[in-house]
Amino acid sequence: MERTIEHFRRACQSLAGGVTSSTRVNKALGHPLYFDRGDGCRVWDLDGTEYLDLCCSHGATLLGHGERRVRRAVEAAIERGAPCSYENEQHAELAELLCETVPCLERVRFTGSGTEATLHCLRLARAFTGRSKILKFEGNFHGYHDQVMYAIGTPADQLGPETQPTRFPGSTGMPPVLGELLVIVPYNRPDLLEAAFRRHGHELAAVIGEPVYYNAGCILPTPDFLDALRRLTREHGVLLIFDEVLSAFRMAPGGAQQYLGVTPDLCTLGKAVGGGYPLSVFGGGKDIMDRLMPTGDCQHSGTYNGHPTAVAAALAAVRAYREPGFYEHIHAVAQKLYDGLNGLFQQHRVAAQVQGLGARFGIYFGLVEAPRNYRDAVLHQREQMLRFIKAAINHGVYFHDYGGAACHHGFCAAMTLADADEALRRLDRAIGAMQRE
Ligand SMILES: Cc1ncc(COP(=O)(O)O)c(C=O)c1O
Repeated sequence: MERTIEHFRRACQSLAGGVTSSTRVNKALGHPLYFDRGDGCRVWDLDGTEYLDLCCSHGATLLGHGERRVRRAVEAAIERGAPCSYENEQHAELAELLCETVPCLERVRFTGSGTEATLHCLRLARAFTGRSKILKFEGNFHGYHDQVMYAIGTPADQLGPETQPTRFPGSTGMPPVLGELLVIVPYNRPDLLEAAFRRHGHELAAVIGEPVYYNAGCILPTPDFLDALRRLTREHGVLLIFDEVLSAFRMAPGGAQQYLGVTPDLCTLGKAVGGGYPLSVFGGGKDIMDRLMPTGDCQHSGTYNGHPTAVAAALAAVRAYREPGFYEHIHAVAQKLYDGLNGLFQQHRVAAQVQGLGARFGIYFGLVEAPRNYRDAVLHQREQMLRFIKAAINHGVYFHDYGGAACHHGFCAAMTLADADEALRRLDRAIGAMQRE
């Protein structure tokens, strides 16, 4: 990794911390990896070392790096001059396709990132209901704007009582007054949700949640939790927002809402929707979305909203997700990879378990039972995770490191069953080396 380390030193002279996103420094290595290129399910670093990619741009490149159809669509948009900040015919084409594909969508708007999508969705929910408070689940992640970066990454000893979890700020610099607008409830606890609605139901504009809690690895909502969520929001006139920035297209074309059979009032889509290009979406029922200007009074605008290259990429990507056989392949690779990795941990006597759904999964070290929420997941052994990730990278499998926390990893559709076998062979050697250390 000579060139990588050399480049890190150089980058630190002009980029704060040597990176463009704080989370790109890999704690397991002590520096980021700088990738020279990617092709399908593989990436190469500056030293020319090849890795099977089990991060896949945090889920954005669900089709794989440099996917042919996406690349052609982007090239065609560039050929047209890519005039941005204007509409072209592809914006409505993509909107139609999304409304056909994702159950809750009757109208959509495009933005640039998942963070912007949740920001605008929450503003719209406040405009529509005339209320200010938001209920958010402990540990669920909704991006980097100040309103939602509370109760994420809370240290295990600062969680507070489960009836009133701490509004732990995920960063300095956030005004505490915004935290006061949040009601925090542990995930998968219908009893506590019910209690929170009894107290706050009348003042809530929205409940925002991850319909599959991938930001703690992969935790599925229980049926009674989902039932309570849909019933209570309806009873109290509160909008239900599924943040599908990560879960969209992951296990079904219509995302987690299709998979779970629960239709929210609004949802956000991000990452995979742009096929590796910066596009995100928020949308929902016509009556709610009509509150946006110019039909309504709620503002959502932006110079780069719906950039023509990203819209063209998204059209190609969403068409690919809708092709017959796409999810059969995803589920077949998922089964091979997750069962195989669980088998390797058992074989090497490592106390770890893999939980996955569709193309993303989590690994939990040292937990006896499957985690149900953040309070369970936070007890996983971070040091073991860091050792595992370092060993995997040294053996040619790239995992992103989230400070050792239980978080999401994943593969892309370009990964074949033979590639998955190759990943398992490399991980077998990596886990062996980790155990011998
Ligand atoms: C569920 C969820 N919402 C929002 C975001 C923020 O998206 P972005 O990083 O594109 O701003 C993320 C990012 O990981 C996410 O997982």
